[in-house]
Amino acid sequence: MPDTRVIRWGIAGPGRIADAEAGDFGLVPDAELVAVGSRSADRARAFADRHGIERSYGSYRELITDPELDAIYITTPHPQHLAIARAAIEAGKAVLVEKTFTATVAGAEELRELARTRKVFAMEAMWTRFLPAYEQIRALIADGTIGDVRQVQADLGVDRPYDPTDRLFDPKQGGGALLDLGVYLVSFAQHILGAPSEIMINGSLAPTGVDAEFGLLLGYDDGRAATLLGSIKNASPGSARIVGTGGWIDVPPRFHHPSRIIVTRKGAEPEEIDCTPLGHGYPHQFIEVGERIRAGEIESPVVGLDDTVAVQRILNDAAEQLGVHHAEDETVLGS
Ligand SMILES: NC(=O)c1ccc[n+]([C@@H]2O[C@H](COP(=O)([O-])OP(=O)(O)OC[C@H]3O[C@@H](n4cnc5c(N)ncnc54)[C@H](OP(=O)(O)O)[C@@H]3O)[C@@H](O)[C@H]2O)c1
Repeated sequence: MPDTRVIRWGIAGPGRIADAEAGDFGLVPDAELVAVGSRSADRARAFADRHGIERSYGSYRELITDPELDAIYITTPHPQHLAIARAAIEAGKAVLVEKTFTATVAGAEELRELARTRKVFAMEAMWTRFLPAYEQIRALIADGTIGDVRQVQADLGVDRPYDPTDRLFDPKQGGGALLDLGVYLVSFAQHILGAPSEIMINGSLAPTGVDAEFGLLLGYDDGRAATLLGSIKNASPGSARIVGTGGWIDVPPRFHHPSRIIVTRKGAEPEEIDCTPLGHGYPHQFIEVGERIRAGEIESPVVGLDDTVAVQRILNDAAEQLGVHHAEDETVLGS
């Protein structure tokens, strides 16, 4: 008998992204958002009321131990992902962990090993890879439409007013352009080209010591390369291009949630392909998690844990080169 169960979700971290995505659960077949957890019972209740969610908890541990839940979507800042995901996996709950997966490479490796040992589903919420545009890109590359893929270029910048208490500028919240925006750029390059052999970066820091802007060159032994520009000091279009020996694919702004792509085959006129996503684009990742859980699988082949660790290594290596050292926060579950 095929598994047709409804996946019951809980959200850990009632912040901005959780608010933005909660409504998209309504577009996911066989899924229900039934609980939310916070460090504060009032904030959890307010979030539950805003989104019509049944149960709210004033601690992350209570959320994780709710026996009715199948999956936890972790939407706290990056340094709190590890402690919450570890506890959830140990409680047998599937986890979908916001990007960046963890604050450190050791944290990402630990979660990968734990999920595999416990045979519990775990995935980084790299929603971009599940969008129809990226399904199309994978198919075009596999068909050889643009020949042998040699180069990737992409940019992503936001003009964020400097505020040392803002998550993006606060080192304790895993701030910086690399972990927040660079993750999309690096994940894009890693998806298309794999893990690089060389990582070179130039950039500058905000007064709080987090990276504020960067230019990143990923080099491959066979001469392939990716050039990636990111910033929280200035906006930039957010476009991407994949170049092969037989043409190129443009992913128009913003490349991490596009609704169309443009393919230019050598010697031919560009062809635009419509790739409209569901809702705000988030449902696709929740659909993926549900399908994998129902199939009894513990990883997604599209955002596998090896990919996530490879991306994390690039990000942390690049941050270290700029003098930025990230750390995990083990205090979020309380004592
Ligand atoms: N997929 C996307 O498009 C997207 C977009 C934006 C952000 N994100 C990711 O989502 C995560 C959260 O980002 P956000 O912008 O939603 O953050 P946010 O608005 O600051 O919300 C984070 C939530 O985490 C909880 N939290 C737990 N421990 C915390 C701590 N020590 N410090 C601060 N907050 C803590 C807070 O809830 P309580 O205080 O109530 O516990 C807060 O509501 C990040 O990893 C980010 O990269 C993804």
